[in-house]
Amino acid sequence: DAPDPCIIVVFGASGDLTKRLLIPSLFNLYCDGLLPDFFAILGMAMDDYTTESFRVRMSTDVQKYSRQEQFDETAWANFCDRIHYLQARFDDADAFVQLKALLQTLDTRYSTDSNVLFYMATPPAVFGMISSGLESIGMNAENEGWRRIIVEKPFGMDLSSALSLNEEILSYWKEQQVYRIDHYLGKETVQNLLAFRFANGMFEPLWNRTHIDHIQITATEQVGVEWRGGYYDKSGVMRDMIQNHLFQMMAYLCMEPPTTFDPEAIRNEKYKLLSAVRILKPEEVRYHAVRGQYDEGVNLDGSPAKAYRDEHLVDPHSNTETYAALKLRIDNWRWHGVPVFLRSGKGLRTKSTEIVVQFRRAPEFTFRGTPASSQLEANQLIFRIQPNEGIEIRFLAKRPGPSMHMRKVNMNFEYDEAFSAHPGTGYETMLYDCMRGDASLFSRSDLVETSWRIVQPVLDVWGEERARDFPNYPFGSWGPKAAFSLPSPDHRRWLARTPKQALERV
Ligand code: BG6
Repeated sequence: DAPDPCIIVVFGASGDLTKRLLIPSLFNLYCDGLLPDFFAILGMAMDDYTTESFRVRMSTDVQKYSRQEQFDETAWANFCDRIHYLQARFDDADAFVQLKALLQTLDTRYSTDSNVLFYMATPPAVFGMISSGLESIGMNAENEGWRRIIVEKPFGMDLSSALSLNEEILSYWKEQQVYRIDHYLGKETVQNLLAFRFANGMFEPLWNRTHIDHIQITATEQVGVEWRGGYYDKSGVMRDMIQNHLFQMMAYLCMEPPTTFDPEAIRNEKYKLLSAVRILKPEEVRYHAVRGQYDEGVNLDGSPAKAYRDEHLVDPHSNTETYAALKLRIDNWRWHGVPVFLRSGKGLRTKSTEIVVQFRRAPEFTFRGTPASSQLEANQLIFRIQPNEGIEIRFLAKRPGPSMHMRKVNMNFEYDEAFSAHPGTGYETMLYDCMRGDASLFSRSDLVETSWRIVQPVLDVWGEERARDFPNYPFGSWGPKAAFSLPSPDHRRWLARTPKQALERV
């Protein structure tokens, strides 16, 4: 279905998110014919722009960040005509009166049926202030058209602040109006986890403790904290990536099949899964979680890279983790005894997000002779979330020749090859769904809270005890040594992507 006509109001429109992701994604949707025929965009921020100068700035930025191979000048000119700007402070009551008048004018001019989508491209600290301003002009109530808000993470810094933030947001809005964005859920490859599991009959019967040995979810980044040291130093990778993006992928991978594809049915299943994750006791944290912080090292091009503690706006004695690995258990019938290993970090050797589902080994080696260890390897199913998006199955095959020697081989599906389309930023899908009122890909308050419950004991222990070995891995390496052995007490190991990686890891 086409999205409803609407005005998209972006609070914090002069920031990075708007120019790098929001406007380019909206423009991509426009070019693909996926925006409603009747729409307008209104940016609101403190910075000194007029509608004209804001349009000029967006024009430059969109050319830089758009995925359009050949920038379509005519389409941009038409799209740009619908962008407006209001310079205002969020704590100024008059600004909201002005906003109301402007929204009425735009509604009449663009026939947007009084539907308004408010995008909070701002830090969470001002969500309450903006919501209160909107309440003062009656823009949070759905008397005429619909009113929805999109909020960006972080949804709190820990369990108690997440509870307060949800309480604050829900004092202005109904849960159905709130769309909490996790851009990983907009990724084609993450959504494909659902298609893979529930549109195919072949794998679901194997999707349980009887056949699966363990699961690994990895999201590594080459970059350091770049310009975001101020935010990151208060956050760390557990809050920045694991509590949200990695848990969302785990939920899709491990949840029960929903009875319908209704947003609530899917979110209920995700909630059930996350609430079945065993909460670590403080004394278990040291055996189930490893943290790291990058030291100086080398960039890919061989140039020297700074240590985390030397990054801009980072405390020179910082105890913040830039790497974390975690072993979790899911206490339900399907996954009893199947560990889930999660890891993520910055300043690592490669940028790669992938999920490995490792099956149990064949019960015995039925062929003659003593098998080499590689001949007993278990089958793996690998979801390459990014880059080289695809799915891979690794299994043993007989090597040509008179003897029964095995070698690991791959069956490979590649998005590029199959669909000749390169997955977008993820924001296109999220914006499109929100305009259609489909909340399946957005987090609900209970999901956010239950995710915080899982990481809270780790954050508590790490907050109380300084990491005496920080910094403990060089920038550009595979991460802290202690993380390599996290899976090994059970003779499990992280999947080595290539022989070269395996070698470097030893
Ligand atoms: C963001 C984090 O949510 O995700 C960043 O705040 C991180 O620190 C980014 O770099 C990674 O996203 P992607 O899509 O590049 O894997």
